Amino acid sequence: MGPKLTSTWFQSHGLPEKSLSRKFLGLTFPNPIGLAAGFDKNGYLLPIASALGFGYIEVGSVTHLPTAGNPRPRMFRLPNRHALFNRVGLPSEGAHAVHNRIQNARTRGLDLPVGINIAKTPDPKISGDAALDDYCNSIRILAPVADYLALNISCPNSHDGRTFEAPGALTELLKAVSADIPHSPPLLLKLGLGHSRSTYESIFEISENHGISGYILGNTLPSVQNNISGGLSGQPLRSHALRVLQWARSTLPRKRTVISCGGIDCFQEARLRCGHGADLLQIYSALVYEGPGFIPELLQQFSDEMRSPLEPPNDSRSD
Ligand SMILES: Cc1cc2nc3c(=O)[nH]c(=O)nc-3n(C[C@H](O)[C@H](O)[C@H](O)COP(=O)(O)O)c2cc1C
Repeated sequence: MGPKLTSTWFQSHGLPEKSLSRKFLGLTFPNPIGLAAGFDKNGYLLPIASALGFGYIEVGSVTHLPTAGNPRPRMFRLPNRHALFNRVGLPSEGAHAVHNRIQNARTRGLDLPVGINIAKTPDPKISGDAALDDYCNSIRILAPVADYLALNISCPNSHDGRTFEAPGALTELLKAVSADIPHSPPLLLKLGLGHSRSTYESIFEISENHGISGYILGNTLPSVQNNISGGLSGQPLRSHALRVLQWARSTLPRKRTVISCGGIDCFQEARLRCGHGADLLQIYSALVYEGPGFIPELLQQFSDEMRSPLEPPNDSRSD
């Protein structure tokens, strides 16, 4: 399902339409800056996402069955580190409810690509083959309204206490998905940022053999704060995210779409990630710290950079 490009946001900000647009995954993204999963878990922001300046939005993580997540408080600011610490635990209204909301938004003229991020229903009773069925059920329900699907395989406790990043579990999952849903929209994997090179190598080897179209690099870093386990996001992820991006780019086929996520909180950082081969970007924590004006600010800076005259080459000869 291809998105309809709108010129409204660009016109209202005095920017040339399509100046920042990108084509990946067979889709046109009005600009490369996306909302990372977790911010809009159930698709409520879809009607205003393009007005906020986003080039695309990743809804989710969505789980097959509705779940409440962990009790509050479950998200904390670490202001000295410009970071967030969360143990939100995958609350979701469930795949059917999110499907209906996205379908309604599309009927009303949704004008940007929508990725849907899928995670396993966090119920310890759903394990083994039932865990694979849980993923496949979500994909079957959500694929018809998704421009791309992202499998969140980096969430702890999603498969018998392991993540689906473990080679055996990932192989089982990707086999089940490709057998069950042969015609899904482009499928991406969302990975953690704290792994060893050999772990990424084995993940890429498996996923490259199973038709994965791209990677989101990556998720929060596992962390412990005051004896509570959770995920760290924001500025402390910068160097991890950049290293993993650089390495992934040098390893993966060029045509593979790579989305960089983690600690992007200013234009310079966004620019750096693009310069190191990120096709698209995603942002969460900086929105919490900077507010919704942050996205138009970034776009303005990207646009200014494109419009600024080229520096004369550093060469004193005159022709
Ligand atoms: C409160 C919170 C909830 C999140 N929930 C999800 C989620 O449901 N699924 C997912 O794939 N990532 C989730 N994330 C991870 C973000 O999508 C992103 O990968 C991470 O925050 C790093 O980006 P940032 O440094 O810009 O925040 C969540 C992050 C936060 C802070």
